[in-house]
Amino acid sequence: MMNNSVKNICCIGAGYVGGPTMTMMASQCPNLIFNVVDINEERIASWNNPDLTKLPIFEPGLEELISKTRNKNLFFSTNIQKAIESADIIFISVNTPTKTKGLGAGKSSDLKWVEASARQVARFSKGHTIVVEKSTLPVRTAEVIQSILSSSESDSKNNTSFSVLSNPEFLAEGTAIRDLKNPDRVLIGGEDKNAMNFLSEIYETWVPKEKILFTNIWSSELAKLTSNAFLAQRISSINSISAICEVTGANIREVSRAIGKDTRIGSKFLDSGPGFGGSCFKKDILNLVYLAEYFDLREIAKFWEGVVNINNWHQARIAKIVVEKLFGTISQKKVVILGFAFKANTNDTRESAAIKICKDLIDEGAELFIHDPKVSPKQIENDLQIKPLNDSDYKNKDPFENRLGHWTFCKNLDIFDKAHAVLLLTEWEEYKYIKWDKVVKRMIRPAWVFDSRSIIDSELVKKAGLNFWSLGDGSQKEQHY
Ligand code: NAD
Ligand code: UGA
Repeated sequence: MMNNSVKNICCIGAGYVGGPTMTMMASQCPNLIFNVVDINEERIASWNNPDLTKLPIFEPGLEELISKTRNKNLFFSTNIQKAIESADIIFISVNTPTKTKGLGAGKSSDLKWVEASARQVARFSKGHTIVVEKSTLPVRTAEVIQSILSSSESDSKNNTSFSVLSNPEFLAEGTAIRDLKNPDRVLIGGEDKNAMNFLSEIYETWVPKEKILFTNIWSSELAKLTSNAFLAQRISSINSISAICEVTGANIREVSRAIGKDTRIGSKFLDSGPGFGGSCFKKDILNLVYLAEYFDLREIAKFWEGVVNINNWHQARIAKIVVEKLFGTISQKKVVILGFAFKANTNDTRESAAIKICKDLIDEGAELFIHDPKVSPKQIENDLQIKPLNDSDYKNKDPFENRLGHWTFCKNLDIFDKAHAVLLLTEWEEYKYIKWDKVVKRMIRPAWVFDSRSIIDSELVKKAGLNFWSLGDGSQKEQHY
């Protein structure tokens, strides 16, 4: 039974974590009010858009939950002060990207948004408030938050007091609703047992109690970084083996299946791909590297940095393979790119392998035609930092004027005319059903299909008369048409 003293929940940050997490809580706890606030007016307007296809985040199952909860017990707003004033519990779910300048640049997290949130909480909250770190944070950030809040406790006329808890989020994009509904565990780190119990009671409305773990606050912060580092390490491990498969004649799918059957290893997270992307793996590993360096644990720093290094190397390797297979030059050759998101079922492109790979191909002079069912052309332009070429630009383009390539966005899959190659980068379901026997008639021969996600049926492609390269498949070394 929910504790009666908790009624209003505020979440600062309406992003990929704050939005879905509060939506799930609101759907499970109809007696509580959830106010999700953000400084980004456009994002809040999208969360409030009556047309649910315009939500700022694409996440399977999200629209349905929003339609049940929005403007009932779930509210999205930019009125941060009001939401903080009325809150019994405040989740801080703001972005924590890698610092680009100053001390720790390139490795440590930039905590300016977390600090700003803590200051807003210190300024506006009333009475006793539980402050929950939902963002992924460097170990001992709770201390920073506590010290900002403590200074307001001593200045305050409102008798404010705070308990700081760590409650990291483990959802993965694309399966966020499923992960939130049925988490492997919920981690609550802290010292104040009452506050921990209040937070636990919210989760207990739908999460079995044995899945809720209590730890000290530093273990909770470190467990989140470690969890992502271990997951990313599996991907770098399997991707490194894919390169060995290609030169030895082994097949990465077979190797994955064989090792995954060992229950000590397990079968999940062994899909070789174009390299891990997403907003967190790289930044969280680099955070761990920074922590190790800070404590002068250099060998440990090098060990974890290796996971990121393999990933960078692997992304560069894929672009190189495309160039090599197309006779060493892709200048003015049309290459179709299937998928730009960092994985399927999300519109998120942060750190997507597609960014680096597309940039490399454009640098080599390729004419990219990019398709993704959920990513907007504006987003691709922001990521590539290169303007797309529209139809009239294309017609007027002097082929000899500029050797650098370009890109064009395509809304549908009517995209293969006069293409020399197709490169699949995101494992969207619809790409499995492409009719290669029809596509081949429109491409320039010899034509290539490159599958970096191992989702295309190789037999169908080969039967259609296309050259086929699949990541980690050594058996296709010598096959040419
Ligand atoms: P995001 O960038 O999608 O959302 C963060 C939001 O916070 C933005 O909309 C931003 O405008 C808002 N914001 C920043 N400062 C603010 C302030 N002072 N007041 C109000 N709003 C403010 O980020 P995200 O992907 O939701 O990630 C948030 C945190 O959760 C990060 O620490 C991330 O590492 C962690 N995390 C992310 C995922 C994921 O899958 N994306 C999963 C688990 C944990
Ligand atoms: C990851 C973790 O899975 C979440 O538990 C964590 O909460 C989250 O990071 C975070 O802290 O942000 P996410 O980045 O959303 O979630 O997505 P993943 O499914 O982990 O995929 C990350 C990248 O690895 C993607 O580019 C994906 O294509 C790639 N990947 C994943 C593979 O190449 N092979 C696999 O077997 C699995």
